Parts: sequence; structure tokens; C-alpha cells
Amino acid sequence: MLKEVIQNALNAQLTREMYSSNLYLAMSGYFQSINLKGFAHWMRAQAQEETNHALKFFDYLLDRGGVVKVSSIDAPPSQWDSPLAAMEDALKHEQYVTQNINALADLAIKEGDHATQIFLQWFVTEQIEEEATVNEIVEKLKMIGDWKGGLLMIDNELGKRIISSGDAEAQ
Ligand code: FEO
Repeated sequence: MLKEVIQNALNAQLTREMYSSNLYLAMSGYFQSINLKGFAHWMRAQAQEETNHALKFFDYLLDRGGVVKVSSIDAPPSQWDSPLAAMEDALKHEQYVTQNINALADLAIKEGDHATQIFLQWFVTEQIEEEATVNEIVEKLKMIGDWKGGLLMIDNELGKRIISSGDAEAQ
């Protein structure tokens, strides 16, 4: 049986993952509106991945006999000043998620909840990849500056992101 303090923290993270999904969906809409379809595709895939993260918490809570409490989710922004500004926000958001995952892992250790510690390991590893991937895009955008050709090259590259149904489950 889950301790209430762990259950509440897992539910809070489920809500954060759903916020992440909405944030990236909003970014997908922004990119689409400025005709960067590759960025829009990448963000749409990212939104789907975040919903899958939320579902991992959902399933885990139920597997442990806990109660799922779906909370209201704050509305994300809908506009950004530039592709770089949007990707920098995405990076800041992932850093925030990493802090929360680490705090959750600390709590599981403090409460002696070994199963939750093991469950969270996947997220600890995932956050390394999430931050690295977004950081790489931010750095490339900084590198190209105002060069439109470079922006279209990155857009083309991001448009190739593949999401298979298998990935969707694994992510
Ligand atoms: Fe679910 Fe991007 O962290």
C-alpha cells in the first residue's frame, strides 16, 4: 500500500506531466503558425510522449493500490517571441521537471519505498535524455542566429522525428 505522502507526490507529478503535454502541444501550434512544420511535428510528438509519461504514473498508482487524483492543469502560454525563446522555455521546463523527479526520488528514499525508487529510475534516466535533446536544439538555434537557411535545415531535421506505436508505449 502506498503511503499518502508518496501517493500525493506521484499524483502531483502526473499533473506536471500533463502540463508538459499541454505546453508542448501549445508550442506545436505556435510553430505551425509560423510555418515551421518540422518543429511543430517534433513538439506534437513530444506532447504525446509527455502524455505517456503521465500514464506511467497513472498505471503505477493503480498497480500499488493507490488513488489517482487528476487535478486541474494551468494553461500554458500560446505565443513566443521566436523559435529560440520557445525552445529555451522548453529547456527550462525540462530542468524544472528534473528537479521534481529528483525530489520525488529523495522522498521515496526517505520513506523507504523501494518500489517507488525503482519505478522512478526510468524517469531519472529519461530526464538526462530530455534535457540533452532540447539543449542541443537550443544550441543549434543560437549557432545559426538570424540565418533563415539554417533555421529551415533544423526544421527539416526535426520533421524526421519518428513516433511509432511501440515508442509511444515505451516512452
Ligand atoms: Fe516527462 Fe519531458 O518529461
